[in-house]
Amino acid sequence: MQDWDMVIHNVHLATMEHGYGELLDAAIAVKDGRIAWFGPGDELPASSAVLQDGQGCWLTPGLIDCHTHIVHAGNRSDEFEARLNGASYEDISRAGGGIMSTVRATRAASDDELLRQSLPRVLALLAEGVTTLEIKSGYGLDTDSEAKMLRVARRIGEQLPVSVRTTFLGAHALPPEYAGRADAYIELLCAQMLPRLASDGLVDAVDAFCERIGFTPAQTELVFAAAHALNLPVKLHAEQLSDLGGAALVASYGGLSADHLEFLSEEGIAAMAQHGTVAVLLPGAYYFLREVRQPPVIALRAAGVPMAVSTDCNPGTSPMTSLLLAMNMACTLWRLTPQEALAGATCHAARALGLQHETGSLVVGKRADFALWRIARPADLAYALGLNPCAGVVHGGVWRAPVVSLPD
Ligand code: NIG
Ligand code: FE
Repeated sequence: MQDWDMVIHNVHLATMEHGYGELLDAAIAVKDGRIAWFGPGDELPASSAVLQDGQGCWLTPGLIDCHTHIVHAGNRSDEFEARLNGASYEDISRAGGGIMSTVRATRAASDDELLRQSLPRVLALLAEGVTTLEIKSGYGLDTDSEAKMLRVARRIGEQLPVSVRTTFLGAHALPPEYAGRADAYIELLCAQMLPRLASDGLVDAVDAFCERIGFTPAQTELVFAAAHALNLPVKLHAEQLSDLGGAALVASYGGLSADHLEFLSEEGIAAMAQHGTVAVLLPGAYYFLREVRQPPVIALRAAGVPMAVSTDCNPGTSPMTSLLLAMNMACTLWRLTPQEALAGATCHAARALGLQHETGSLVVGKRADFALWRIARPADLAYALGLNPCAGVVHGGVWRAPVVSLPD
């Protein structure tokens, strides 16, 4: 007699180990928040747990959104209109809008106000079966404002049934008080901002925006060195608008991921393959900026680089709060297979956060993070546009309804 806490039977599993890892007419058991057993339903051992009926749903690992800027204040629909009238993202950025516009709004907001504005976006993701969420800073650009963003990210993980990983993105843009002094800002970031935020326990990983309108590879490397000195893993916004060799740079630091990658080179791919760096694909930003240069999906696949898919939820380039839609876009725009898209939002997204031993696939011992879906086959998740088939979610072995309400 097993002393399990929960057993869900009458489900079809997609374990996301070795492709979909389909197991029809299955059951899965949980003990102490972890997966204790799964297998064919007719081989389910006797246990003390009450059997829960999965009603023929598909059960996948809980979804993981591994690249978001979901904590921010204000919005930039005015820039959306300006871009539709011919302005480019870079024009707007150089004119003091873009990221800087969100920096002004985010600096002005209190912790509570920032949380209040961010929660509806988080709830939209949770309603679609997201159980792990990465949240970046990068709209504060001074120590106190970056700390505020990261505190709010931590509160989201404490108040809602979702695991949050925080990423310090102080090198997102040059704050106006450092105009013309980018090196001095990077020095401050490395010597003061990052060490302080890390010692406050607010930082799980470090990111930068390596781009003509962001920071140079040399400046990015200083940020990575500072992160390494604090034993923090790194990732990078790389090759989004041009090829500065950022992917190879982050790979050489054993980086968790290189993200965007529309302008990724052969050398970048080889370096990522060599170091096991995940390619995080962000079709929302490509779509919303009406870009035409596609990331080299065929070459990434051929090189065996794991591809994750994420929303990049942010107010400027991807105001998107649907990971299922990002999966559809990755398939439709860039020809990922639906299986690759689901792997991109589960096991490979876990790897992009360094959580591949904790979540992202159904393996005995991993955290019991599940999403249940009213679908006929796993490919339906990437196929439908705007339908949310999520029927239930388990996070850390605890059931939650797909729709979560705002905390008090
Ligand atoms: O991932 N590329 C830089 N960072 C964000 C955009 C941020 C913004 O425009 O507010 C991105 O696309
Ligand atoms: Fe981003």
